Amino acid sequence: MSNNPVVAVVGATGAVGREMLKTLEQRNFPAEEVIALASARSAGSRIPYKGQELKVQELGNDSFKGINLAIFSAGGSISEKYAPVAVKSGCVVVDNSSAWRMDENVPLIVPEANPHALEKHKGIIANPNCSTIQMVVVLKPLHDVGKIKRVIVSTYQAVSGSGQKAVEELESQVRQLLSMQEVEPRVYPYQIAFNCLPHIDVFLDNDYTKEEMKMVNETRKIMEDDNIKVTATTVRVPVFYGHSESVNIETEKKISSKEARAILSQAPGIKVLDNPLEKVYPMPLSAAGEDETFVGRIREDETVANGLNMWIVADNIRKGAALNAVQISELLVEKNLLRVT
Ligand code: A2P
Repeated sequence: MSNNPVVAVVGATGAVGREMLKTLEQRNFPAEEVIALASARSAGSRIPYKGQELKVQELGNDSFKGINLAIFSAGGSISEKYAPVAVKSGCVVVDNSSAWRMDENVPLIVPEANPHALEKHKGIIANPNCSTIQMVVVLKPLHDVGKIKRVIVSTYQAVSGSGQKAVEELESQVRQLLSMQEVEPRVYPYQIAFNCLPHIDVFLDNDYTKEEMKMVNETRKIMEDDNIKVTATTVRVPVFYGHSESVNIETEKKISSKEARAILSQAPGIKVLDNPLEKVYPMPLSAAGEDETFVGRIREDETVANGLNMWIVADNIRKGAALNAVQISELLVEKNLLRVT
């Protein structure tokens, strides 16, 4: 027996859950054992892990006995119901859903931006929204130098953010449309192939979507600055993997585009791809499967005193979900924080 944690992945059969297992394996996460949990529908099925197969078990109230760390990615209602059950069993939870993110007792962590906030955890740690994670990785080092006052962001989000069924829906719609067949949208309200939907998650009373308000509220929480003004438009586009974002910021202190490139080149988790004359800029196709957050098209906004425009791209399933959750798990191990107080 080692002192390594026994780890459960809740939602192990989903798009993010599978990537979590892959990421744990690739990064050689020090687990004593890994348990795959999902619904009754997939209980008994097998998922490859470290050259062997994990037999999927049905999630239930007794699933967390003997588990030290549970990484959840099975949707908000499952996290709401089972994260407290897991914590009661003495298990630390890293939750990928939005269920606990704005709870004041739950740290919301991007390891490159606010790792210190992890120390205060009371059992549940939240993984931010995919679009927020990649934006904050880039904004934090700029905020540290120039203090960001305002952010205007428009997103171009891949279908994998809506789960495996949405990936299959885009694929089948493309095939059907190219063979002159009718398509019937299931996951999205409209055809997603060859289309863009300015509608992610539900609409709220203020006419924004919940996804847009996640970007507003989560950014402030992670950056620990409620004075930052954030306004967002989130759009689903017919891309399989990789979210792109057009981000405009206004800072208190001027940061030139040259300085911004220098700051971001030194910052953790970022790769600057910014040589437009050589056609070098980030794209979802090239970011897919990669760990870094890519930033390019950095240029000064000539309409305000201290403004910058940039284009930020990352793999939404990796840095936007599985990798960030595994990085949080690694920090929990490193800082000896795998305990419920
Ligand atoms: P299952 O495959 O058994 O349905 P995605 O986001 O790609 O759709 O994945 C969702 C994940 O959440 C899947 O692993 C799915 O398991 C899991 N899940 C959904 N509903 C439940 C549930 N009631 N109990 C446990 N796991 C669930």
